[in-house]
Amino acid sequence: MDKILIHGGRKLHGTVRISGSKNSALPILAATLLTKEPCTISNVPDLSDIHYMLQILSHLGGQVERASGTVRVSAESIRSEAPYDIVRKMRASVCVLGPLLGRQKEAVVSLPGGCVIGDRPIDLHLKGFEALGAVSRIEHGNVKIFASQLRGANVNLRGKNGPTVLGTDNVMMAAVLAEGTTVIDSAAAEPEVVDLANFLNKMGAKITGAGTRRIVIEGVKELHGADHSVIPDRIETGTYLVAGAMMGGEVEIQRADPEHLGSVIEAVRGSGYSVETTRDTIRVRGNGSPKPLTLTTEPYPGFPTDMQAQMCALLCKTKGISVISETIFPQRYMHVSELKRMGADISLDGHTAVIKGVDILSGAPVMASDLRASAALVLAGLQADGITEVNRVYHIDRGYESIDDKLNQLGAQLDRVKV
Ligand code: EPU
Repeated sequence: MDKILIHGGRKLHGTVRISGSKNSALPILAATLLTKEPCTISNVPDLSDIHYMLQILSHLGGQVERASGTVRVSAESIRSEAPYDIVRKMRASVCVLGPLLGRQKEAVVSLPGGCVIGDRPIDLHLKGFEALGAVSRIEHGNVKIFASQLRGANVNLRGKNGPTVLGTDNVMMAAVLAEGTTVIDSAAAEPEVVDLANFLNKMGAKITGAGTRRIVIEGVKELHGADHSVIPDRIETGTYLVAGAMMGGEVEIQRADPEHLGSVIEAVRGSGYSVETTRDTIRVRGNGSPKPLTLTTEPYPGFPTDMQAQMCALLCKTKGISVISETIFPQRYMHVSELKRMGADISLDGHTAVIKGVDILSGAPVMASDLRASAALVLAGLQADGITEVNRVYHIDRGYESIDDKLNQLGAQLDRVKV
């Protein structure tokens, strides 16, 4: 188990390159199961979650070859069962359900367990599959889904906290091989859903409306192989945007897609930082007197829940009172108690965090608990006096490719220590 020591207080300058999106790559890799023909996916980030997905694909019968950022999957004949040992390490393994159901008309996948960011049910995924004519049941910790035939249907995927990203992906992946037309209302509109739909269309699917709240899928008989390059990771981009704002200097983020970060850029600008964009770069400059913010997380294009913790870290040292409301995962505040150990003044009231800016954060040993909470601790460590020791770094390695190297290139000092 590695830990990272962060020597705080160093200004960041220079350029950083963004990797492919984890949350796009995972369902896109799962979608390669929908065809017997080989698919080649490029700009795949080197992350532990991606390794788990490749293990799942291999277990299901896919031939997987990987060379640097390119993965070739050939799933000529596959099985429909993914047991606990294989899927337990990553909740996103549920996104093999849709492709298995679409192609095999059955799927048996161990249910994802609880998760520190809150309850992670899959009722909406199952509602979508059932609308297509499938039957599902939970048995011995597995979800079993089968259908004699999948038929297009209308389904509304709105849950109590809004649309579901992987649920939309899953239903879309099953519906591409259903007979007739499927309409998903209250669909998730995240860029990762659009990226998946673009890949499926390259495979011969007929999907329109991805990126809006209504997706229409005209079923086809079969899909063929395709090549695809994954979009840049907007959450990694946002994390370096916040790092550059709090510690710049001037930081240029390259190979990004600023269009996917409208609400994040607006928030950082709203705090008084200068942010300039081109088609694929973002340049951010530090600001002597940033302003506090009031933010609410929302489905895309609103402010992403996956950037909430990092924004908390930024606002810890921003004079005045900031207020963050988390509406997607209302309990997603594991970073708060660790930030408080570093001197932050944050109080929680239900799903709202009230942050009073302090002058100083002080380095401390802290515990990473989930991916984005860990990113927030790294960001806090950059701003803190002295040394911050972030333990359980494997949480960060799930979603940030070489975060220590990338920040060090910008002038930070992070040392990875093998424990
Ligand atoms: N929900 C239900 N029923 C369902 C599914 C979801 O009630 O069947 C609820 C959830 O409990 C939550 C809300 O709907 O309150 C939204 O959850 P969603 O299903 O959209 O989350 P997800 O698809 O499981 C993806 C990302 C998350 C990201 C969320 C929200 C992947 C692999 N994961 O999860 O990313 O936070 O969408 O944008 O795409 C991360 O990268 O750190 C991460 C957690």
